[in-house]
Amino acid sequence: MARTRSIFVCQECGHVSPKWVGQCPECGSWHSFAEETAPSRGRKGVNTVEATRPVALGEVSLEQEWARCSTGITELDRALGGGMIPGGLVLLGGEPGIGKSTLILQVLRNIAESGAQVLYVSGEESAFQLKMRAERLGHIPPSLYVLAETEIEGIFASCDTLSPRLVAFDSVQTLATREISSAPGSVGQVREVAARIMQFSKERAVTSFIVGHVTKEGAIAGPRVLEHLVDTVLYFEGERSSNLRVLRAVKNRFGPTHEIGVFEMRETGLAPVENPSDIFLSGSAPGMPGSVVIPCIEGTRPILVEIQALAAHSYLAMPRRTAIGIDSSRMALLIAIMERHLGVQLYDRDVFVNVVGGLKIGETAADLAVMAALLSSVKERPVPEGTVIFGEVGLTGEVRPVGKMDLRLKEAARLGMGNALIPRMKGAGIALPEGMEIRSIDHVTGLLEFL
Ligand code: TYD
Ligand code: MG
Repeated sequence: MARTRSIFVCQECGHVSPKWVGQCPECGSWHSFAEETAPSRGRKGVNTVEATRPVALGEVSLEQEWARCSTGITELDRALGGGMIPGGLVLLGGEPGIGKSTLILQVLRNIAESGAQVLYVSGEESAFQLKMRAERLGHIPPSLYVLAETEIEGIFASCDTLSPRLVAFDSVQTLATREISSAPGSVGQVREVAARIMQFSKERAVTSFIVGHVTKEGAIAGPRVLEHLVDTVLYFEGERSSNLRVLRAVKNRFGPTHEIGVFEMRETGLAPVENPSDIFLSGSAPGMPGSVVIPCIEGTRPILVEIQALAAHSYLAMPRRTAIGIDSSRMALLIAIMERHLGVQLYDRDVFVNVVGGLKIGETAADLAVMAALLSSVKERPVPEGTVIFGEVGLTGEVRPVGKMDLRLKEAARLGMGNALIPRMKGAGIALPEGMEIRSIDHVTGLLEFL
């Protein structure tokens, strides 16, 4: 019999090395290697010579696609690209306490209401704790089962007797397989457990949800080791202090990505928010210097959000640059463009930019709005009330058109915004909403005039 062999695995990125090293050659982390026992046998299926025959792609049936099943939660269906797929594996990530278990339990409840057997595997909470949580969410259907177990072999054995339609594993960091000696939560375990769940889902055409805690560095299980394996990756975003939660699809084998779902955390669980602009703008401070409203596009949907900026006198040798909700290097770039083209000095000021409500804006359409907010703060002059601003800014200070301008303006008009500052369009124009005063510029110097 072969001797068990030790390998060393980087707990940040999963890089495998035959001996211990201080710094990971893959991701550069220090002291991240932990010893694990190499699996004593090859991966399942490698040695079996069971022939799976190739099929003609043209003849593949799309029945699975038609079998897309609603989760009973509109905003979650939206993020999933229309619902759950039999055999699909969904990874739900987010910081502890953000509402992952709550959402999963709500889905299980909805599916169980239709009479289907569903199973909630919890390695974190006891059946008693789960019951307490479920009672807050409403009626508990009889076909909703819970299993407080952490060994994956035992879990699959229970599934044999129950044959559930939907299984949730909460969380992947608490589960382990017998075949690896390292502790639950280590890269080796997390990867192996997820691979086994994948195999299980595909073989039995069961939809599975895996919950994964994201650490402060933004990684799942230390590293984002599972993203490539699963079919769909959803992340929960939002500030725990606010009730708003954004569910973002960052990968989806069965539908579009970058579609988001918006929820509000209530006493009775997560409630979908159908018109997010109403929520993100509520409590905004119009008429204050440094506040600008931008209609951003999330997936196919326009959402109005408020961006706030503050440029205050700095007492530090290296002034602070803090960006929350936008990319910090993008902010640095915008500051440089402002200094060069608008003659605004920011080297002696601390600069803070914040997207209100905890949304993260990834699109460059926010450039002009961020710049306007900063300029408004520096000049202590407010942007006229009821104004939306968007546009991409280039290094030479030019303002470029962005996608879906008509959709953005339409949403702004719906919420009663009367003014817009947008990029100048060349060629064919767009349908502008009636009654809105629209000013278009092609260079950032236009901002000075506007304020
Ligand atoms: P939870 O789903 O346990 O988070 P996670 O699984 O991501 O760690 O959510 C926990 C928080 O949600 C907790 O602070 C209580 C709050 N909560 C509500 O506000 N309303 C509810 O109905 C429930 C079940 C939880
Ligand atoms: Mg939880």
